[in-house]
Amino acid sequence: MDKITRVLVIGGTGMLGRPVTRRLVEEGYTVTVGSRSPGKVEDIFGSSVKAATVDFSSPASLAAALEGQDAVHLNLPSGPRFEDCFRNEARAAETVANAAAQVKLKRISYLSGETVGPDRKFPPVQAKWQAEEAIRASGVPFTIWRATWFMETLTNLVKGGLIVILGSGRSRVHWLAGEDLGTSLAKALRTEDSADRIFYIYGPEAMTFKEAVLIFRDTCHPEKKIMKIPTGLAIILGKLTGGREMWFGAQMIRYLDAAGETGDPIEMSRLLGPTKTTLAQFAAKLKG
Ligand SMILES: NC(=O)c1ccc[n+]([C@@H]2O[C@H](COP(=O)([O-])OP(=O)(O)OC[C@H]3O[C@@H](n4cnc5c(N)ncnc54)[C@H](OP(=O)(O)O)[C@@H]3O)[C@@H](O)[C@H]2O)c1
Repeated sequence: MDKITRVLVIGGTGMLGRPVTRRLVEEGYTVTVGSRSPGKVEDIFGSSVKAATVDFSSPASLAAALEGQDAVHLNLPSGPRFEDCFRNEARAAETVANAAAQVKLKRISYLSGETVGPDRKFPPVQAKWQAEEAIRASGVPFTIWRATWFMETLTNLVKGGLIVILGSGRSRVHWLAGEDLGTSLAKALRTEDSADRIFYIYGPEAMTFKEAVLIFRDTCHPEKKIMKIPTGLAIILGKLTGGREMWFGAQMIRYLDAAGETGDPIEMSRLLGPTKTTLAQFAAKLKG
């Protein structure tokens, strides 16, 4: 296999793009972060990465950023309206996949979702399926990550003096750290057998949403109170107040609560090694 050394991370400034970018840098890759704001890239990563101006509304910017790269990792935004998922995530993936085929890229990596499949009716998941399809159709070697819930999501629950749980908090999942995705990606780019593969990626331990929130709260925000809001109420509140993020988040949680974890991470573990970061370790690192 031709060695992969130069990696473009599109959406590298995002919540889950940042830990992945940092791990790729630590693993010795030459990383360029694609963003609408190159200044933001410098603010976040300093001189450890290069910056490329990328906007999904400009296919030329995506094609230009791919020039001279060996691989691309896609950390694409989802929401906050259902139509955004198709306009941004699905279309951006298709444009990148086509441009990647032109420059004969060695690998496309894409952060998809754990429940993605052809029969899902939930629009954000349909958009991810379309993105996966476009990547598979491009002929470029791909690695698709069907990831479960990320620990980083917990930081979004902090609202003033509260930590707000949407839904029952009873869903049990294998919480995954963004840095573990980065570690697995770094290995996958050096592993020929990880090309043209879809991996389910889970964290090392399963716990309910409520258990995870308690560890996060007790470690990082012991002074904050936990409040539960049913997803139905959050959807209505989000709609009434124009709070699109709340509306979208509640829709996602309601869907994921019902869908549960459906994949099998054993293949990924076997080929690339197990994920290791526990929620306690993640929270301790966050606290600093
Ligand atoms: N939360 C979970 O547990 C979970 C689980 C599985 C999968 N995922 C998926 O992971 C993906 C990434 O999530 P995230 O939280 O990291 O997303 P995010 O924080 O919203 O980051 C998305 C990135 O996209 C870039 N972007 C937005 N609009 C753009 C445009 N028009 N042109 C170019 N770049 C644009 C932004 O970069 P700039 O602002 O710098 O341009 C941003 O860094 C999502 O698709 C999500 O569904 C999440």
